Amino acid sequence: MKVLVTGGAGYIGSHTVVLLIEAGYEVVVFDNFSNASKESIRRVEAIVGKKIVVVEGDIRYREDLAKVFSSHKIDAVIHFAGLKAVGESVEQPLRYYDNNVNGSVVLCEVMSEYNCKSIIFSSSATVYGDPHTTPILEDFPLSATNPYGRSKLMVEEILRDVYLSDNEWKIVLLRYFNPVGAHASGTIGEDPNGLPNNLMPFISQTAVGKREYLSVFGNDYDTVDGTGVRDYIHVIDLAQGHLNALDRIRNFNEPMTINLGTGNGYSVLEMVEAFEKASAKKVPYKIVERRVGDIATCFADPSYAKEVLDWEATRGIDEMCEDTWRWQSQNPNGYII
Ligand code: NAD
Ligand code: UD1
Repeated sequence: MKVLVTGGAGYIGSHTVVLLIEAGYEVVVFDNFSNASKESIRRVEAIVGKKIVVVEGDIRYREDLAKVFSSHKIDAVIHFAGLKAVGESVEQPLRYYDNNVNGSVVLCEVMSEYNCKSIIFSSSATVYGDPHTTPILEDFPLSATNPYGRSKLMVEEILRDVYLSDNEWKIVLLRYFNPVGAHASGTIGEDPNGLPNNLMPFISQTAVGKREYLSVFGNDYDTVDGTGVRDYIHVIDLAQGHLNALDRIRNFNEPMTINLGTGNGYSVLEMVEAFEKASAKKVPYKIVERRVGDIATCFADPSYAKEVLDWEATRGIDEMCEDTWRWQSQNPNGYII
């Protein structure tokens, strides 16, 4: 089976490509390298001991995609390609809608032309907005508070409409909670551009000495210690969820919407403590104002993934921190070598 992985050079994509190749899938990576380094591909090749087929191109450009589909018989697409910075999406909404929404539309059009009608899409827990309660089930009300989140909701809805127009489509919408961690080799991992927006890369860059201290965004939430609670999920568990979905996609008779989380919530301070233990480094922090748009608590009910994908996360918070630390300490400047 040949799988096209859009955004396959990025953080989650590169880890998924490792697992796909190890499981015997043929893989074509498609990426415009707008938020990835070619070094990540070289590292993946070193892990799997094989050359990887990589096509540099943009999902918004039909010709780029047609080149891939005309030269490879693609059976399914795992669609990671997208922009993901919430703050940036507020400043540049049109760029986000163009890249994430228009890009996905063009991708589906070209897929359809080449009669490839199986797609796994990277959605996000952000589509639940501020949930009325936790754990979060897939049928909770949906809302978005920023263009990034809205782009995910729009693509979910577009894909459901595509299915309604043509029932041959096989569609899996995976809603990720908070991906963290890295491959156990320490050679691939998350390599954010500039100042990290997300907690885990900020903690690890602080532990390695690149940042002076972590700003903890508020300690007056209604949580165990007042800091925000999230469902951190190891990127390898997350990647494995895609393989389980791919394995079963032919059996699904309607679009499937599935949470990928662990079901456990940890506060910011609990993450700091776990990271200090894993790295044997201090992570200095200061409590600052809440971040606009943040919610108190977000964690998944992952039981539907267990039921329909026979998938559950197996890696705990200690492994997430140890693997992040191995990646960060071996690559203090990410993929820049
Ligand atoms: P990432 O930025 O590391 O990977 C995305 C990849 O897509 C990058 O390699 C980038 O170069 C590529 N890309 C972007 N636009 C493209 C385009 N128009 N054409 C071709 N390639 C393009 O991000 P990630 O963390 O690996 O996330 C993967 C997907 O998962 C994204 O769609 C993201 O929105 C979604 N997601 C991520 C998180 C998270 O916290 N990391 C959470 C929920 C959902
Ligand atoms: C953020 C995005 C969300 C996206 C998700 C995964 C916002 C408002 N939301 O969610 O849309 O799907 O990332 O990419 O940006 N924190 C700090 N200090 C920091 C960074 C974070 O205290 O420097 C806290 C946050 O307040 C939060 C927790 O750590 O309580 C996790 O933050 P983050 O990693 O940014 O993830 P989300 O807020 O869940």
